[in-house]
Amino acid sequence: MKIAVLGATGQTGQYLVNQALQQGHTVTAVVRNPGKLAVHHDNLKVVEGNIFSVDSLKSHFKGQDVVMSCLGFQASFFSAVTGYTLSMNAVLGAMREARVSRIITMTSWYTEPNSGTQSSYLIRFLLLPMIRSVLTNMFEMEQFLQKTEDINWTVVRPPGLQNLPASAQEFLTHEGYFVPDSNGQPTGSRVGRGDVARFMLSLLNSNAWVKKGVAMTTK
Ligand SMILES: NC(=O)c1ccc[n+]([C@@H]2O[C@H](COP(=O)([O-])OP(=O)(O)OC[C@H]3O[C@@H](n4cnc5c(N)ncnc54)[C@H](OP(=O)(O)O)[C@@H]3O)[C@@H](O)[C@H]2O)c1
Repeated sequence: MKIAVLGATGQTGQYLVNQALQQGHTVTAVVRNPGKLAVHHDNLKVVEGNIFSVDSLKSHFKGQDVVMSCLGFQASFFSAVTGYTLSMNAVLGAMREARVSRIITMTSWYTEPNSGTQSSYLIRFLLLPMIRSVLTNMFEMEQFLQKTEDINWTVVRPPGLQNLPASAQEFLTHEGYFVPDSNGQPTGSRVGRGDVARFMLSLLNSNAWVKKGVAMTTK
């Protein structure tokens, strides 16, 4: 497939680009700093683009089968995070102009404001407040996608990310804001970035999570 990747220079993005190339896909990495991507491959094109501009993105999206995004924006106590919604607005506009109808993007467990009540005290009272500005804007982006009918979107929600390559472990998934065990408690709290990339790429061959948000982790 022909895949346009956003956030390709990021930690998850680099796993995604490498795995996509290994699987035989053709990748266009749309980045703000081409020099930052250390991967070289005949089927990889690295282009400079502005993720907040329809005009900048649309030419890079022409002819692509799918857009995949591993974009991330820093948490702030002092100002609202807006990168997720503002970039998604431009990305969907560019997809429509370029006639690309499929996007797979990532957010996180616990984007919904009340979904963390089952998590550990550490996560609930320390981690989630620290990253609330990020989760809030991720949730706003998810709600924006929920209202989008003409694009086949999937939101992949992982728990805490670790810099680990793809494993062969089975995926656990749940249509919700975390993956519960049989008692309804969150099952695990960490996943490797390589496995998130592996899961996102597995969705290219499946319609299972189209127009849905899926919480994932590994067994
Ligand atoms: N950390 C966790 O435990 C955790 C858990 C669940 C979900 N997540 C979420 O998962 C996603 C991926 O995480 P990650 O750690 O792999 O991300 P990351 O390493 O921080 O990478 C973020 C990517 O977004 C790009 N980006 C940020 N602002 C940009 C802008 N204004 N214009 C263009 N590109 C921009 C960065 O580009 P540059 O390289 O040019 O900066 C980079 O490619 C993020 O949304 C993160 O919040 C994280």
